[in-house]
Amino acid sequence: MRRRIFAAAAGFLLGALALAGTACSKRGPARSSDWFASLPSGEIRRKLIIGCTSCHQLGPPVAYKSTAQEWEETIRKMQGFDEKLDLALIPEIDVAEVARWLEKHSKIPPHGRTVRESPADIKEYPAGPWESFYHDMEYAAGRAWIADYFGNKLYGVDPETGAVEEFAIPLNVPKGKPGGAHAINKTRDGALWITFTKAEQVARFDPVKKTFRVYSGFEKGANIQYFALDAERWVYQDPKGRIWMTQFSKEFLTRLDPRTGRIEKFSTPRTGWLPEKAVHEYAAVADSRGRLWYTETHGNRVGVLDPATRRAEEFELSEAWSGPKRLAIDTADRLWIPELAQSRILVFDTLARKVVERITLPIKGDYPYAIRRNPKNGEMWITGSGTDSLYRYDPRRKNFRIYRFPRRGAYTRTVAFDEKDNVWTCYASYPNTHTQMPFRSGVIVRLTPRD
Ligand code: HEC
Repeated sequence: MRRRIFAAAAGFLLGALALAGTACSKRGPARSSDWFASLPSGEIRRKLIIGCTSCHQLGPPVAYKSTAQEWEETIRKMQGFDEKLDLALIPEIDVAEVARWLEKHSKIPPHGRTVRESPADIKEYPAGPWESFYHDMEYAAGRAWIADYFGNKLYGVDPETGAVEEFAIPLNVPKGKPGGAHAINKTRDGALWITFTKAEQVARFDPVKKTFRVYSGFEKGANIQYFALDAERWVYQDPKGRIWMTQFSKEFLTRLDPRTGRIEKFSTPRTGWLPEKAVHEYAAVADSRGRLWYTETHGNRVGVLDPATRRAEEFELSEAWSGPKRLAIDTADRLWIPELAQSRILVFDTLARKVVERITLPIKGDYPYAIRRNPKNGEMWITGSGTDSLYRYDPRRKNFRIYRFPRRGAYTRTVAFDEKDNVWTCYASYPNTHTQMPFRSGVIVRLTPRD
């Protein structure tokens, strides 16, 4: 089950190069966000962002076409991938019409938008096979962790040496089939937790003893997705130690008792204008009273479930196809919701039950996938999923800083923090090969701000 391997020496040397950002970048290449910003705003663009940027960046550098025929062929091919994985990611569109719209409006801008970048040391750690997919990463027990969606393995990287430990995850899937490793987070006892969207299982990994406990019995085809987190960025545990998960393809939340393995389902309201599996009940956080707030990305809603009453209610976002995605909560019980297709953060006060702020990202056309709150200082880190960057937002001063990765196609879905004020993420394109980099592997990234 357990094997120790070391990163290829050459790969790690490359990865160890420290790349300090410049205070103000020169005119860079056009990025995915620049291309989106050049398209007419409106429902077609928002649907393209929601449907087409869920696996990889769209537009430059790698996912670009010119003619209507090429776009149409590509979109149909993508619908095929979407169907094969049974995800219903691409909303219903008139493919021929969208392809003509793209032919008419789509041009790669000659250069990217110039923004002020903050300096950082960035170190890249190769781990796992190149032709795969690493959705999430977490930092625990002095190691950075990623899991292979298709290969069903967990990789732990030593930040000092780059050495990689590899663990086969004992899932209930036939050999060669994906377990669908998805979210990775940790509980306060230091254990790692991983969801498996395809195996419909959840694993607890003890990073000190290096042992797994795998939980089964979740609903088949429901696509077990994310753990509900708390304001301190831990997996939320209720007073009895139970944890919560969202289901991507079904409108219910699941509660698991890690001691007994008991699973319970809590229904949420039907978002009737879409088939259930297209609603995409997405990410969840717990407020200070243990209520669970969740997003429906395609359903365009934010909901709240009170476990005490088993009742849930939902709020509609003001504009269709806004794409509420991977939210965070702060210690005043305010939700920080990234609106994927609006380049915006919605701040929702759960006590007043209203939107209190709308914060526009400093780079036009970007699509923020996730927001993570740094529990040490309350700063919000936002993935610049279409700009190869991370944003750092200070809620007190209300200012943004931008840290750019040294790669194009550097699509990210999460941010983690260690005890030394480093910030961590991983390149998370599906396919991983869409990130333009010198590594033939998956890549975990450590970013140390220098400002
Ligand atoms: C389910 C995941 C998924 C979604 C959703 C998705 N793609 Fe892709 N895309 C892939 C994969 C996998 C590849 C690489 C395989 C390939 O090139 O054939 C790819 C490659 C591409 C490429 C470059 C490859 C080529 O054929 O030139 C383009 C362009 C592209 N996608 C456009 C889109 C568009 C447009 C959408 C939305 C309609 C979309 N993608 C949605 C998975 C996805």
